[in-house]
Amino acid sequence: MSRKKLRIGLFGFGVVGQGLYEVLEKTPALQAQIIKICVKDRNKKRSIDATHFTFHQHELLYNEAINVIVELIDDADAAFDIVKTAMENGKAVVSANKKMIAEHLDELIVLQQRFQVPFLYEAAVCAGIPVIRNLEEYYDNELIHSISGIVNGSTNFILTKMSETGSGYQEALKEAQEAGYAESDPWLDVSGRDAVNKLSILVAHAWGRWIHPDTVVAKGIDELSASDFEWASTHDLRIRLKTFASRKENKLVTYVLPAFTTSDDPAYRVNGVFNGVEIESSFVDKHYFSGRGAGAYPTASAVLSDISALSYDYKYEYKKLESGKKLESDLRHAITVYCRVQVINQKVRSLFDDVFIEKNDEEESIIIGRLPLSKIPYINGTLITLPEEAVHTFLANEIAQEVLTPEEV
Ligand code: HSE
Repeated sequence: MSRKKLRIGLFGFGVVGQGLYEVLEKTPALQAQIIKICVKDRNKKRSIDATHFTFHQHELLYNEAINVIVELIDDADAAFDIVKTAMENGKAVVSANKKMIAEHLDELIVLQQRFQVPFLYEAAVCAGIPVIRNLEEYYDNELIHSISGIVNGSTNFILTKMSETGSGYQEALKEAQEAGYAESDPWLDVSGRDAVNKLSILVAHAWGRWIHPDTVVAKGIDELSASDFEWASTHDLRIRLKTFASRKENKLVTYVLPAFTTSDDPAYRVNGVFNGVEIESSFVDKHYFSGRGAGAYPTASAVLSDISALSYDYKYEYKKLESGKKLESDLRHAITVYCRVQVINQKVRSLFDDVFIEKNDEEESIIIGRLPLSKIPYINGTLITLPEEAVHTFLANEIAQEVLTPEEV
């Protein structure tokens, strides 16, 4: 099969843009050449010659010599304008901008259909792990039950550093930033919103339903304290920021929350910048994908794979969109959580469907129970999910001894 020659206009020359430039230099067999790179900052010192750069978007977007736009900037609004204009001009597009894709996927699907151009974004979810292409192709006829795991590298790096080397939160975050793992605005990572954006993209490819990221409940790692890590270590658990999506009949359950993981969960051994995603489906049962979830080369590798796919006219088909229309988010679904608040009062208790354990201390209190997703925004404290088995077996036995009598509460 003869492959298309790809003439690339690249937006952005940050961590991933530079990574892509280097990766393309090392893969000459792929007939892909960067024609021009558009950047914003006129004063920044660049690692390659100034002749490669322009500051004018139209030199790429309206350039007849360019047939592929690769968008690797961090501003989601500007990225959407670039991608839209590129598609309107008949150019294939590759992007890694999960926030932009998650917020505009409905419009982006329409644009792809209207202008008959491919738009690929493997690098937007789990960097180097080929999860989107697998959902599109391998699982196109599989009935997927759930997709869960770790989809943010920075937070996994921070959590691992904090629990294993005893680093402080700020110190670990700074290291993640220096390594090029964190977003320009690291709040997106630590608040769980970056993971939510990725979850929204995964759900669209798994079940054909686009859910706006703002509708997904999430808490990040920024509210965890030393006492949570201590609690984890006392019970031989590890804390991971987990993304969860499942489908049962016409109901979708989605959330992003810190999770206590037991040693029989593969996420327990996913450390540092690595991501790990479990896909559970009807016929094949469980697959676990793991690999580097952030960083220049892993992300550039996914972009490279998309560029290569364009050379044989690959595009996402979104085959499940029709069947996805009937799916609804289920916010009444209840999950088992450890909740650390200052004081447990009737108001807090009433948010729970069931309370299994209460532990009141002078400075902070812990309540373990089943909490509906819709009540999560009303919790003014830290939430960490707990595997049901853990509560019902060893945790229940151990902590039951600490439950206070009603008089003491
Ligand atoms: N900040 C993101 C992360 C980059 O840490 O996962 C990769 O999407």
